[in-house]
This record gives sequence, C-alpha cells and structure tokens, in this order.
Amino acid sequence: MLPVTLDRTSSEPLPAQLAGQVRALVLSGTLGTGDRLPSSRALAADLGVSRAVTEQAYDQLTAEGWLEARRGSGTYVTATRTPTTAAPQVTSRPTSPRFARSLPRSARTDEQARRSTSLRSSRPTGVTSRLDTGTPFFDPRLEPGWRRAWREVSVATPPPGYDDPRGLLELREALAARLGRTRGLELHPDEIIVTAGTTDGLRALLPELRPGPVAVEDPGYRAAAETVLTYGREVIDLPAVETVGDLGDAVAAYVTPAHQHPLGRVMPAADRLALLEAARRADAVVIEDDYDSEFRYDVAPVPAMAKLDRGRVVYLGTAAKSVIPTLRLGWLVAPPDLHELILRRRTITHAGAAWPSQRALLTLLRDGWLDRAVRSARRVYAERAPRVAEAMSPYATLAGPLAGMYSTWLLPETDARRARDAARAAGFEINLLSTYARSSGLTGLVIGFGGVTDAELDQALAALTGALAR
Ligand SMILES: Cc1ncc(COP(=O)(O)O)c(C=O)c1O
Repeated sequence: MLPVTLDRTSSEPLPAQLAGQVRALVLSGTLGTGDRLPSSRALAADLGVSRAVTEQAYDQLTAEGWLEARRGSGTYVTATRTPTTAAPQVTSRPTSPRFARSLPRSARTDEQARRSTSLRSSRPTGVTSRLDTGTPFFDPRLEPGWRRAWREVSVATPPPGYDDPRGLLELREALAARLGRTRGLELHPDEIIVTAGTTDGLRALLPELRPGPVAVEDPGYRAAAETVLTYGREVIDLPAVETVGDLGDAVAAYVTPAHQHPLGRVMPAADRLALLEAARRADAVVIEDDYDSEFRYDVAPVPAMAKLDRGRVVYLGTAAKSVIPTLRLGWLVAPPDLHELILRRRTITHAGAAWPSQRALLTLLRDGWLDRAVRSARRVYAERAPRVAEAMSPYATLAGPLAGMYSTWLLPETDARRARDAARAAGFEINLLSTYARSSGLTGLVIGFGGVTDAELDQALAALTGALAR
C-alpha cells in the first residue's frame, strides 16, 4: 500500500493528486529506483477509486519519466533524487565543436521573419503559408473577447510615469495564480518579472551571469543561441536527448524540458535531476524555457523543472504560444540573487514590458479568455498532430511524442530538402531540422500546424508526401 491520501473535497482532480503524491514519494526517497508499484487495479482498490484514476496517474508519471511500465511485469520507479550510482551517469560531455559565430542564413531569417499574425488564418491565395513552429492557432470565435480586452486598454488609465519594473501588479497576481494552477509553481507575485517574451527574459538574465559560456540544446531554439552570441558569450552544444552529467565551464544551460525544441521529447525525470546536479557542481543555472508545455493532448502538462529546485532554475514563460507572439509578453522567475540583479538593471534601463500589452493580457486572464484559447488550440492540435503523423510516418521517424503545435520528423537531408522544395513550390514554407542543428548534425523536417487552416495543412502534407514517395 502506498502512503497516499486523496482528498475528495479538493478541487484538484484525483489523478493529479495521486500523481503529485507519488512524485513526492520518489523525490523524498521513500520510493527508490527499481521499486515496483502496486498494479493500477490493486492501488485503485486500496484507495477506493476507479481504475481510471490510478491509470491516469501512472500514465502521467510515465510520460514525465518518473515511472516505467515493463510489459507483463508491472510499473517501476526509474528516477530518484538520490542516484543509485555515486554520480549521475555522464553519457555525453558537451565537448562538441563550438557553435559557429554566425548561423546559416536560413536559421537567421526563418523564425524572425515570421509573417505578422493576422487574427484569422485566412490569406490571399498564391501567398506562401508558413508551417512553422512559431505561429499558434487563433480561434476566430475568441475574437470578441480579444477586442473587449483592447477596448478596456483604451479606457484604462496608464501609470503616469515609469511603472514597477516587475510589471503590472494585477497582472503578476493573475500570472502567479495561473502558474500555480497550470505549472505547479507556487509563486508570490513579487517573484515574477513580466518581460517582453522568452528572449527578452534571456536578454535580461545574460548580463547578470558570471563570465563564461552558455550551454544551449543542440538541436535547439535558434533565438536562444543567437541571443547568447549577441551578448558576447560562447555557445556550447548541449546534447538535446542525452543525459547531461557535466556542464564543464558553462555558467548556464538553456533547456526546454517540457517539450524539447525542436525534437519534442520530454526531458525524463532522471535527466532533470542529473542536469540539476551538474548545474550545482558547476555553480551554473538551468534556464528553463517553458514555451508550449500546456499543449499536451494525452496527459496533463509535465510539471515545470523549476519546481524541483527554485534556487537553481531560471524559469522563462511566454504568451507567444498561448496568445500570439506579437503581443511580446512573457514572464521570468529567477532565484533571489539573480532576481535582484535583473530588477536593478531593468529599473535603470527602463526595460519593462509595454503597459498596453500587459493591461490587455490582464483582461484576457481575468475573463478566462486565455484558458479558453488554450483549450481550443489544444483541441485543434490534438486533431492535426495525428493527421501529420499519419501522412509522414510511412516516410520518416517521429522524433518525440505528439504534443504542441509542431512535430519533427527525422529524414536524410536530401529527402528532407526534396520534400521541402516540393512544399515550397506548392506555396508552403516548412523548416529543415538541419537549420536548428549544430554539431548534432540531425536532419529532417519540422512541421508546424498551428498557423494554417485544415485545408492548407492537407495540401502541404500532400506536397510533402508526394515528393517523399517518389
Ligand atoms: C523554443 C521557444 N521558446 C520560446 C519561444 C517564444 O519566444 P518569445 O517569447 O521571445 O517570442 C518560441 C517561439 O517560437 C520557441 O520556439
């Protein structure tokens, strides 16, 4: 019998309560690597709940990498706070060649030159549609609420001078409540700094880190690598899908644990613990880019890595995926010493986020608009992701679980280019995986499905698969 107690009067769903308590048992060492859990049926009987509750909790913890289901044998713990070996296993030392100072032309232009987002995804025929990772679905039914938010901005009184550099207090309160509810982060509003997006958060952080290189996932978020270079720091390639047990002389590691960008994998619990341990040894920080974690369709969003060690993780969130990128809003939560340094510089340099955007987001949060937008986009992605998978799986290998607003397919570069060119000829722009890769040399296609219509997606997939079938 597991020492868990479920509270039927709580607003937290029973599977989430159970998953949270089992996760806590693993983190406290009560459950260790290799321990076998009761079957979902037996645990359900013990707890007096339906089997769906225990199955859902086990599925969640398996997706997060805390548990492993062994066929015909049962469910076992795979990750523990106290490693079973003396140190986390180092399978890869980030000694791969240093990232070239300049990114390839395509890498520079692709995401930065995104078309400006129109609310409706209708566009004149003959114009290229981008199947990129950066354009979210925007439900036209939500337009009235969106307009209401901006009307409210137009009649609200702006702060007379420079406002609190942390951002609008009411917005930080609403964000703290939402991050608690959706990401498991218990935050005081004063711990949050509102930014102009993830990359702005990174720009705020970099000057406050001691001198030294920054490890960035490879393949990884190109804007992050470029920003690190812009701030005069070297980029070290951090293998995106391996256990990292040593950060060398890196002063920070930039990662996307909930949904590796662009391969899509969830960083398993054991790898999270190993990376945090490596960061502690190197006296480095982990920069958690939590860009699209709410868009899971099979299990609940994987909890934020910052939850494991608030003193070591700088958490970066963004409105780019849940609202639109051009709102230019995000949020940063840093350990206290870094928080103070960031705030000091932001105060002196007037680097706060724009008030109208903050005021609009406040209304969107307060009215429940953002929750509706996330739910509606999640439904669309849950429907489109399998369509992409069905079309692509005969020709390519899916790099990670289906989640978010894009999927990544591994293919030889020549095939990927042939398919990309065919899609381009049909009016669709699709990114090559090689433009995200540095020393990893991974090749394939990164197919975004948020910013197009269903019909456009089908046309693009037909162009891709037509070329791949040849
Ligand atoms: C991995 C990743 N992080 C963050 C972002 C959002 O960045 P920002 O908030 O600066 O627009 C994106 C947008 O495409 C992304 O792909």
